[in-house]
Amino acid sequence: MASILHELVTMFIFVTYVFMVTTEYSLGVAALKVQCIDSEQKALQNFKEGFHGHLDRFSSWVPEEDCCKWRGVRCENETGHVITLDLHSSDSSEAMQGQLRESLLDLPYMSYLDLSLNDFLQIQIPEFIGSLSNLKYVNLTNANFKGIIPDQLGNLSHLVSLDLSGNGYSLRVNNLNWLYHLSPLKFLDLSGVDLSNSVNWLDAINMLSSLIELNLFACKLHNLPQSLPRVNFTSLKILDLSFNSLNGTIPDWLFEIDQSLVFLYLRRNEFHGSIPEAFGNMTSLIVLDLSENNLEGPIPTTLGMISQKNQSKEFSSLRELYLYHNQLNGSLQKILPKLSRIHVLDVSWNSLEGVVTDAELLDFSNLQVLDFSGNNLTLNVSSSWAPSFQLERIGLNSCKLGPQFPQWLRTQKHFSSIDISMNGISDAVPDWFWNLSSKIRHVNLSSNVLTGTVPDLSSKIKLSTIDLSLNKLSGPLPLLSSSISKVFLAGNSFSGPIFRLCEMLKVNNSVRYLDVSNNTLSGQIPDCWTHGKNLVILNLASNNLTGKIPESIGHLLQLNSLRFDHNGLTGKIPSSLKKCTSLIVLDLGQNRLSGEIPEWIGENLLKLMILGLSSNAFKGHIPVQVCLLESLKILDLSSNYLSGEIPRCVDNFKAMAERETVRSYIYDPYTAYIEDVILTAKGRQFHFRKVLQYVKLLDLSSNGLTGEIPQGITSLIGLISLNLSRNNLMGAIPPNIGAMGYMESLDLSRNQLSCSIPTNMTDLLFLSCLDLSHNRLSGSIPSGKQFDTFDAVTYQGNHNLCGPPLAYNCSEDKSYEDPNCIDKDVGRELEAETGHGLHIPPFYMSMVLGFIVGFWGFWGPLLLKTSWRHAYFRCLGNLIDQIYVRVIVAVTRLQRKFQRQAA
Ligand SMILES: *[C@@H]1O[C@H](CO)[C@@H](O)[C@H](O)[C@H]1NC(C)=O
Ligand SMILES: *[C@@H]1O[C@H](CO)[C@@H](O)[C@H](O)[C@H]1NC(C)=O
Ligand SMILES: *[C@@H]1O[C@H](CO)[C@@H](O)[C@H](O)[C@H]1NC(C)=O
Ligand SMILES: *[C@@H]1O[C@H](CO)[C@@H](O)[C@H](O)[C@H]1NC(C)=O
Repeated sequence: MASILHELVTMFIFVTYVFMVTTEYSLGVAALKVQCIDSEQKALQNFKEGFHGHLDRFSSWVPEEDCCKWRGVRCENETGHVITLDLHSSDSSEAMQGQLRESLLDLPYMSYLDLSLNDFLQIQIPEFIGSLSNLKYVNLTNANFKGIIPDQLGNLSHLVSLDLSGNGYSLRVNNLNWLYHLSPLKFLDLSGVDLSNSVNWLDAINMLSSLIELNLFACKLHNLPQSLPRVNFTSLKILDLSFNSLNGTIPDWLFEIDQSLVFLYLRRNEFHGSIPEAFGNMTSLIVLDLSENNLEGPIPTTLGMISQKNQSKEFSSLRELYLYHNQLNGSLQKILPKLSRIHVLDVSWNSLEGVVTDAELLDFSNLQVLDFSGNNLTLNVSSSWAPSFQLERIGLNSCKLGPQFPQWLRTQKHFSSIDISMNGISDAVPDWFWNLSSKIRHVNLSSNVLTGTVPDLSSKIKLSTIDLSLNKLSGPLPLLSSSISKVFLAGNSFSGPIFRLCEMLKVNNSVRYLDVSNNTLSGQIPDCWTHGKNLVILNLASNNLTGKIPESIGHLLQLNSLRFDHNGLTGKIPSSLKKCTSLIVLDLGQNRLSGEIPEWIGENLLKLMILGLSSNAFKGHIPVQVCLLESLKILDLSSNYLSGEIPRCVDNFKAMAERETVRSYIYDPYTAYIEDVILTAKGRQFHFRKVLQYVKLLDLSSNGLTGEIPQGITSLIGLISLNLSRNNLMGAIPPNIGAMGYMESLDLSRNQLSCSIPTNMTDLLFLSCLDLSHNRLSGSIPSGKQFDTFDAVTYQGNHNLCGPPLAYNCSEDKSYEDPNCIDKDVGRELEAETGHGLHIPPFYMSMVLGFIVGFWGFWGPLLLKTSWRHAYFRCLGNLIDQIYVRVIVAVTRLQRKFQRQAA
């Protein structure tokens, strides 16, 4: 969100010194006819030959013409020496490819060099540039350079402006000591350069006493000294340290440049502690961005005191304040009156509380962005309120705007983004709402109780995201323009034939996310997916769809998530689906699909993390190819007519064999994505990244599987739920089962399992749901730890089990021991002694501690809300539903921290 103001001021600062560098020359050229110097013309000619690709820029570079008149070349007005070489391209489609030839060295008077936005094919920045000692301005941004920035740049002692940004992380430095000699430098942009090796980066920067603008955005910086002996760069106006890993509190030395700083960006770091009161002394500050850190405490009222000296009243000089995604608390009452000139006020996703009234917003006539979302704030305004501002972005998620639809929105005519989700609005969406703004791009009305139908929106040609999910909207699916990219209509009462979706999927459509799950749509899934090449998520789950899955589904090559579950679909899984090799989630459960589980699922869909085929009429064996799906975290084949043995290769499910702790959380866009997928699937678009990472399930229950449980299954130690119930499995429970230490739910009931219950099962400390009933188990029931919490129902229907909680006492009668099992049981004891079965790794012990703390924080809400509790502890329930329950619970707690704006 760059406001015009921002751009103007930045441009002013820019222009001022770029002007200083360039004016003297540019003015001169026209005035006097000087001739290009022969050797320099040759040098330029040679330099040009280093390029290929789009060479239009060289069209004026003809030998007959004076080189001072060549495009991009300027000469000094009296001597004729080349002083400027500007070959930047305006965008990547125009980029030239090439080398950077040493012939530049024959242009010794050159002071201005701009080669930005060309493609130097990952070469290093050549050392010889450091010999062009007259250079004042160097711009190599976005030019595909790689490797270490040469120290020789430190010889450019006249350098005023250096821009090496935008070369990815492929540029890096060993240190920044070469900056020590660049004292005239006013502008430095190393954004995207990997500075992680530069321990003393700030000391080097501190040598640059003329610095006006410093951009170190996304430089992998991690250490930031709290204080400096003396701050040299006291003229700094723009400082951008966003997207690094800086931690600690906001450093003191910042406040020694308090008189000059205009723009300060510290977004997306790991700063903690409170916002220092000293910001009140930054009398020039216009933009302050501290968002996406871990800052806590109240917003200091001094923020509003900025520049009081210049004003008769106490007003802040601030025009844009971004504090979103921190843990700030307290109310806005004291600070609001001083911020009335502000343009952007974004305090979303904190823990702010209190009531904001229309009276408090009376003077905010410049306000363009208002974002209070995700706090505990209440916006209480009168129904006739006509605000003095025209907002561009309205962010009022969970601001208790309901139960009536907020009437004041009718005064807002220019917004491009609106979020009034989760406001308890129990009303019809008024007709005027849909005609308010022609600029509308993002609409989020989800999680209210909105009623009525949605009109034809196909004329809203800028609309890119629409989220109406979890309301009570009815009627046919709305028509949307082909510019739409994300469509969330889940959890409403939309009805009628689903083929209306095809209206959206015309040629050149941009639909990426399409979720109409949990409605009452009917008819066959239309066969129009040839135009769905951009689709990433397609969710039609929980409707009344019938008929076959169309073959054209195989055109969705980008698809990551496909959910058709909970419908009435029939026929086989179409073989065209094997082309959708990007699939991560495939859920076709709860339909009437038939045939065998195709082998190509395992051979082709190698990225699958979730495969749900439960409650269909699939028959035949589980193909061994399924074991090729090493990334699977959830496999649900329950309630089909599958027969044969459980494949012995189940130990190939690598992801299920890995343990992940909540704390060992490393951001991984891949898993984060899955989590998004799942949540979107349930109709809400939560963006959080933690919980599902460790949800791993295997459910083969309610089939006709035979044979023994493969021993290898116990290597899947990351599983939290294993359900093999209601099959014809025989033999003993695998002796090493105690190793599956993350297991929370284990159901082996209604098989023909025999022998005794392995004693090491008491190591399953997280086990809250155990069902071994209706088998042929024998011997004594293990006791201790979790096992003391299970009641007799867990074991019922096993005629030879003894000991508590059953009424039969073991010691009295040895006949409970099944003679066929003695050998196996002895083997088991031995294994336990060698430490195999009982080994608890140290991190696991710490998990146990974490469990005690974590359980109540994490699952505590379950115990408060009965409907959830029942859903969760219903062991035999649909497993994927269980995850949703878990996720929703977790989200309630985590959404504040992890939700990111839909845009
Ligand atoms: C040439 O440029 C200098 C500045 O570098 C300027 O002072 C001088 O007037 C210019 N001469 C002419 C003839 O334009
Ligand atoms: C460098 O070039 C890029 C692209 O041409 C431009 O956007 C940027 O402002 C330039 N940097 C400086 C410091 O002039
Ligand atoms: C400040 O900068 C000057 C020259 O630019 C340098 O000599 C001096 O050491 C710097 N001071 C500190 C504390 O870094
Ligand atoms: C909102 O304002 C009205 C009128 O000023 C008041 O009666 C009501 O209690 C307020 N509600 C809240 C939640 O503050």
